[in-house]
Amino acid sequence: MSAISTVRTTDPTEAAGFIIRGGVVAFPTETVYGLGAAIFDETAVRKIFEAKGRPGDNPLIAHIGDVGQVELLALELSSDAERLIEHFFPGPLTIVVKKTDAVPAIATAGLDTIGIRMPNSELALAFLRECGKPIVAPSANVSGRPSPTTWQAVLEDLDGKIDCILQGEPTDIGLESTVVNCTVEPPLLLRRGAVSIDELRAVVPLIRELASGEAGAEKSPGLRHKHYSPRAKVAIGRELPAGFAGRAAFIGLHTSEEIFAETRVANSAEEYAAALFEFFRECDRGGIELIVCEPVPETGIGAALMDRIRRAAEG
Ligand code: TXA
Ligand code: MG
Repeated sequence: MSAISTVRTTDPTEAAGFIIRGGVVAFPTETVYGLGAAIFDETAVRKIFEAKGRPGDNPLIAHIGDVGQVELLALELSSDAERLIEHFFPGPLTIVVKKTDAVPAIATAGLDTIGIRMPNSELALAFLRECGKPIVAPSANVSGRPSPTTWQAVLEDLDGKIDCILQGEPTDIGLESTVVNCTVEPPLLLRRGAVSIDELRAVVPLIRELASGEAGAEKSPGLRHKHYSPRAKVAIGRELPAGFAGRAAFIGLHTSEEIFAETRVANSAEEYAAALFEFFRECDRGGIELIVCEPVPETGIGAALMDRIRRAAEG
């Protein structure tokens, strides 16, 4: 693909103009930066897959600026889906529901379902409202790289490949949204995120989580693909593997006794989650070969954090 000039702006109206003219625009949300296109414009949606090098079998999430837009996308809503919308929109939760015919197959990788979420970020909501229609958006990284939590990380991956970057602050949460499939009874948690399983169960008590080893791939196509990987190897623990002599980095909640080329100590699991993906990118820029990640208890955001660290360690 030939290079295009990528405009940077802090103005949501200017950014929305690119969407309205059929372009692709990166924008901040409370989770990570997304790469958006108008959902009902197939040509524009195709550009997302091209810019990211994303496999065509991985469906996209529709982002809405107004709860009223759900009806443009969802054919039907279970009472559980309605309860989740009521409690968690806007917020870091994506619900998967049966799609309307208006949603083009390319957006959902041919599935008859669509993921929907309403981000809880003022800049994202201003942008989405200016767009006027739902916007499909995966994370704004090259496929396989860590999701971007800053506009600079988006620029690093996608400069010259997308029309515009809406520049905001670094994202608050730093991990992608929780995804719940509401087309099955009881609903099924497909991806862990900032809305924890306990918070979900306070609203829909029977929500199920995939048991480890259960075939999640058919239910959430994204789980089939390699994710969240820095170029460096990732190890879980607090120590260097015996005999390792290369450049290593450490991130966690406590200082390690060992000597690392780079160290990041966070004050809470929330801060650790918010820092993780940018730390991965920093390590890659600094030629780090191994990143040691301290494990955290799997409660609250800790469950999503450990999920991302494990996937990176597998990559
Ligand atoms: O926080 C987020 O969700 C970010 C921001 C930009 O909103 N977006 C994001 O999108 O993480 P992406 O494309 O990187 O991840 C979407 C995930 C994938 O694992 C995908 O397979 C799953 O959601 N997904 C999307 N639509 C689905 C569907 N119809 N059925 C099952 N899984 C779906
Ligand atoms: Mg992604």
